[in-house]
Amino acid sequence: MLDSNLFQYTGTTLSCEEVNLEVLAGTFGTPLFVTSARSLIESYRAFERAFDTLPHFTCYSVKANYNLSVIRTLAELGCGCDINSGGELYRALQAGVSPSRIIFAGVGKKPEEIAYALESGVLMLKAESLSELKAIDRIAGEHGKTASVAIRINPNVTAETHPYITTGDSKEKFGIDEAELPEVFALIRQLKHLTLIGLDMHIGSQIFDPEYYVAATMKLLTLLNTAKAMGFALEFLDIGGGFPVTYDPLKPATPIQHFADKLIPMLLPAGITVIFEPGRYLVANASVLLTRILYKKRNHTGKEFFVVDAGMTELIRPALYQSHHEIQTVTRHDNTIVADVVGPVCESSDFFARQRAIGDAGEGELLAVMSSGAYAAVMSSNYNGRLRPAEVMVNGSEVKLVRKRETYEQLVQNELLEELE
Ligand SMILES: Cc1ncc(COP(=O)(O)O)c(C=O)c1O
Repeated sequence: MLDSNLFQYTGTTLSCEEVNLEVLAGTFGTPLFVTSARSLIESYRAFERAFDTLPHFTCYSVKANYNLSVIRTLAELGCGCDINSGGELYRALQAGVSPSRIIFAGVGKKPEEIAYALESGVLMLKAESLSELKAIDRIAGEHGKTASVAIRINPNVTAETHPYITTGDSKEKFGIDEAELPEVFALIRQLKHLTLIGLDMHIGSQIFDPEYYVAATMKLLTLLNTAKAMGFALEFLDIGGGFPVTYDPLKPATPIQHFADKLIPMLLPAGITVIFEPGRYLVANASVLLTRILYKKRNHTGKEFFVVDAGMTELIRPALYQSHHEIQTVTRHDNTIVADVVGPVCESSDFFARQRAIGDAGEGELLAVMSSGAYAAVMSSNYNGRLRPAEVMVNGSEVKLVRKRETYEQLVQNELLEELE
């Protein structure tokens, strides 16, 4: 069982909430991302329930899925936003999120992005270097503002996850080393256009063991005491995102309550508002990628392939991180075959599954690539001249198109065919 059960067979056909996926593919075409609004709401509520007794503020990490309707669904429940660029700030504002509920992360913010955030009035910028602190101070001064900042600490905790998504290790680019903090605090005292309001960390993504959070939070709490002793009145301790979800039923994610049970007793005595930045946890299991089987083929070794109309351009996680996604036939099949599910892109890494037992669906039938809500549509590309897919959101029996499929015209709209002399 995946974390969300809002994709279920009704009779012989897979549905999202009360809507048949076959009908959606017929109406909107494929590849198609289908998101369950109820799943988003349930995941957010489960997170809030777990941390209920801790004064906290949850900021959805927009990078996981920046569709405006996804952001708005979560914001309407009271969730803030964690953003990583001017573009994500623009998206959050367009979705109707109040700037006072937006926090700005990122190791390489450009001056114009810092200015945009300050002019918008975001709750805080999270600074990741001495140079960035100076830049924020200078830009705030130029704009007649005082910037509220948190310092992102690199706690030097190596969380066990895919190496591409560990971020709290001192060999990575993220955050400021503990050893640098005396210099940072001294600098902040001198800067006239900054107020230090928090400390921040984010140790990685898809972290199954709460002990990594415990180790890193302990470091953050020690640094909080140091900062307080130096006279800084901090309001926030941001412990980042990274909470895990189940992609593979054989490897179920640690329930969120286990993280809460470890963290709340540590954080409560600090008497501070804790910020969480879950991304994947809120959205991963809320969407599927619907794709149609174009061709089936068998090679001379007897190996079977399903060639489908979606590929790494829509969901790059298997190619990038060798990640597992469950694949279900939209029409239930009792017989299975072992096959590779591959896309149309001209790369050998363009696959969704290798040697997987899958319902023996025929050409023209639909597959649902499960748990495709996080780091999927946001990482889509036009490689091979592919059109980014449409996205729909389902709420009960209601269906809304929340992103149109791209067109060939859009593929070339920013290009200028200038004659060279
Ligand atoms: C600073 C920061 N916060 C939050 C997140 C969200 O992580 P996750 O989707 O694993 O919860 C990320 C992901 O990279 C991040 O870089």
